[in-house]
Amino acid sequence: MVGRSLESIRKAENAGKLPEQDKDERGRRLGYSLEQVNLMRDVFGTRPGRSAEDTPIIISVQNFKGGVGKSTVVTHLSQHLALKGYRTLVIDCDSQASTTTMFGLNPDLEVGDDETLQNFLEPGGENNLRYAVRRTYWDGIDLIPSNLGFYDTEYTIAAKAFREDFMMMDRLRIGVEDIAQDYDVVLLDPPPALGMISLSALRAANALIIPTPPSTVDFCSTAHFLEMLSDVLTMFNKAGLRREYQFIRVLATRTSEQHRADSQILTMMSAVFGAQMIEPRLKSSTEIRNAAARMMSVYELAAPITSREVNMRCRASLDQVNEAVELLVRKTWHSHQADLRRAGYL
Ligand SMILES: Nc1ncnc2c1ncn2[C@@H]1O[C@H](COP(=O)(O)OP(=O)(O)O)[C@@H](O)[C@H]1O
Ligand SMILES: [Mg+2]
Repeated sequence: MVGRSLESIRKAENAGKLPEQDKDERGRRLGYSLEQVNLMRDVFGTRPGRSAEDTPIIISVQNFKGGVGKSTVVTHLSQHLALKGYRTLVIDCDSQASTTTMFGLNPDLEVGDDETLQNFLEPGGENNLRYAVRRTYWDGIDLIPSNLGFYDTEYTIAAKAFREDFMMMDRLRIGVEDIAQDYDVVLLDPPPALGMISLSALRAANALIIPTPPSTVDFCSTAHFLEMLSDVLTMFNKAGLRREYQFIRVLATRTSEQHRADSQILTMMSAVFGAQMIEPRLKSSTEIRNAAARMMSVYELAAPITSREVNMRCRASLDQVNEAVELLVRKTWHSHQADLRRAGYL
């Protein structure tokens, strides 16, 4: 994880360059927390993030349908990136606040209406997003939480955008681009609806991942989403607000090898989307559901819930998807090109 041999780490520890590792009462080493690992990465200069010249990647994990796995992808992807040492910001733009909940907050009790995006997006509010950023218990992941009150902002923006100010839809982009300078990757979790917040997220992002389970309904929903996307981008272009995306990818989620219908639709999706599909699929797994019932991600489980085998299969699938996204991100950064070429990715 640190990118240095055990020997170099011990040497640095003995030389007092690294903080003492925690030990139990018998003097045995207790292992490292992510925070300690990140400290070591800082000492050795082995953080994998972008250079100051590279653009922070702002990924919106977006589809207009609920239950397709958006929040699941956002949560697990952010934790994967944080384990690797990327500085990550998660922005919950959904008033259902499931991502906020997954990060251990009770949106009704622990998130005030003035602590979500609302305060920035509504007229007369804050002029940047820093007030809303919280550290999470995951070192390297910050969160802008959401709560039910954020739903009102949908109407405030709509009313204002239609009556007087089309640029209201651009406000989130301005706030996010500003704060993104502090991070390697920003992940947006927009609401499952075709509204002002969704449009604002589309505008704020510079990369899109579109999760789609292999069902006819979800496939159709994704087709509509893409049509809409094309219309919206044309509309923005006409208004002189061109948006370039570093990548747009469809991610098959909740897939199951057992179902014949699933694999037929997957074949169709591959034929339609071709190279725009992320090759690994996020398999359907009871472990994800079981972990979610405890308000945890699969990466947070201290022990398997369903069974060891199911847990391992699920983690492998999550890792594959997350690594594919990590690679897409790294490919956009100039400072990573030489390493990627050496590793045969370019
Ligand atoms: N790959 C998967 N396997 C099994 N259950 C999943 C998977 N992805 C998501 N789920 C479950 O489906 C439900 C909806 O997922 P969620 O990520 O909240 O979707 P969205 O954010 O698009 O509404 C949650 O209960 C989640 O635990
Ligand atoms: Mg969600």
